[in-house]
Amino acid sequence: MSEKKYLNKGAFMTEIGKMVVVDENNIEQIVKDPAMQQAMRKQLEVSLPVAEDCVLIQVEYVGVCGSDVHYFHDGACGTFKVREDRDIPFMLGHECAGMVVEVGSKVTHLKKGDRVCCEPSVTCGKCEYCKSGKYNLCNEVVFWATPPVQGCYMKYVPFKADLCYRLPEHVSSRAGALIEPFATGMYAAQKAEITAGSTAVILGSGCIGLMTMLACKARGAGKIIVCDLEDIRLEKARELGADYVINSRNEDPLAKISELTGGKGPDVVFETAGSRFTIAQTAHIAKRGGRIVLVGMSAEEEMTFNFGQIMAKELEIRSLFRYVNLFPASVAVVESGLAEIEKVATHDYDLEDIQQAFEDSVNKKNEVVKAVIRF
Ligand SMILES: NC(=O)c1ccc[n+]([C@@H]2O[C@H](COP(=O)([O-])OP(=O)(O)OC[C@H]3O[C@@H](n4cnc5c(N)ncnc54)[C@H](O)[C@@H]3O)[C@@H](O)[C@H]2O)c1
Ligand SMILES: [Zn+2]
Ligand SMILES: [Zn+2]
Repeated sequence: MSEKKYLNKGAFMTEIGKMVVVDENNIEQIVKDPAMQQAMRKQLEVSLPVAEDCVLIQVEYVGVCGSDVHYFHDGACGTFKVREDRDIPFMLGHECAGMVVEVGSKVTHLKKGDRVCCEPSVTCGKCEYCKSGKYNLCNEVVFWATPPVQGCYMKYVPFKADLCYRLPEHVSSRAGALIEPFATGMYAAQKAEITAGSTAVILGSGCIGLMTMLACKARGAGKIIVCDLEDIRLEKARELGADYVINSRNEDPLAKISELTGGKGPDVVFETAGSRFTIAQTAHIAKRGGRIVLVGMSAEEEMTFNFGQIMAKELEIRSLFRYVNLFPASVAVVESGLAEIEKVATHDYDLEDIQQAFEDSVNKKNEVVKAVIRF
């Protein structure tokens, strides 16, 4: 076999709930189906030279996102479904950081050896949304690990250079992989118009809730109250600076929040759990004239919401989809030390142990807050 400059390896979901790690030399030993072998080979193939507007990244860390876990466990996330005939073997992963090892001929802002994090959405650049700076709403978006688009759980990933953001020297690649969910938290805090002293309630202390909290704190928020059902997640919120935490299993969150805010309610309530119960709570929690920011995505599209409260309290409801124009600011906030996003990740796994990482993310919600894969 001729020597390849980059011997690629990666993890593929070969059926719901099953991950297989292969490299370009052992695919035939590990999977038997020729069509499967061919699809893996195609995904792992590194063609040189890289395209003029791309770089080749040697991946160092990739986060395990809630959406990855949904595809792994349920074969679907919201309206996106993994289709056996089209998508299997499916490579998950979209929260990526690593080192640039090849640079396309027209790329000027990056060089070999730079470490970068990646914004995983390639948009058309031509539509109304792209042109008006709302590219997160582009209908033509190609987003890693969203069927039929493959993800980045592999050692070498070619990617558009303009979506790769250089990491400063003292921002680790592990933190770099967490910039993607942090950008969602930053967008939530921006939509909420959090300013110095704002009070906020965050319903759901998973990765996205924690990132939202860190983004609020970076903007100078005052009192922050976090609710969840798992003590370990609330402990994490406390460690990262929550002023009060409430386990909604043991305590009535509405009564406790009212008490903690002197009967007034917070300026903003963020829904980051994606549950019909927390979505229903938002209208009762926000103060008169306050704001509700919907971040979590429920599996159900229609649910009960108290519009009487919304009207009587003149509440404002905002929602958001991913993030827009926020990677540079997210990196800058982390560099400045205003948000210790690395602490959100609680468990590191080698690529070879990715099956375990996903099983633990599904089965041990009271232990694993956020897993990352190390290459
Ligand atoms: N709007 C966007 O662009 C965007 C981007 C990323 C993720 N999301 C969504 O954000 C949500 C959170 O993502 P995540 O990765 O943090 O998921 P996660 O599952 O790790 O976190 C959700 C948390 O909510 C808690 N929770 C569930 N029911 C609750 C209840 N009744 N009261 C209090 N807490 C409760 C869970 O215990 C968990 O800790 C998901 O719905 C995800 O789809 C949205
Ligand atoms: Zn993600
Ligand atoms: Zn577009």
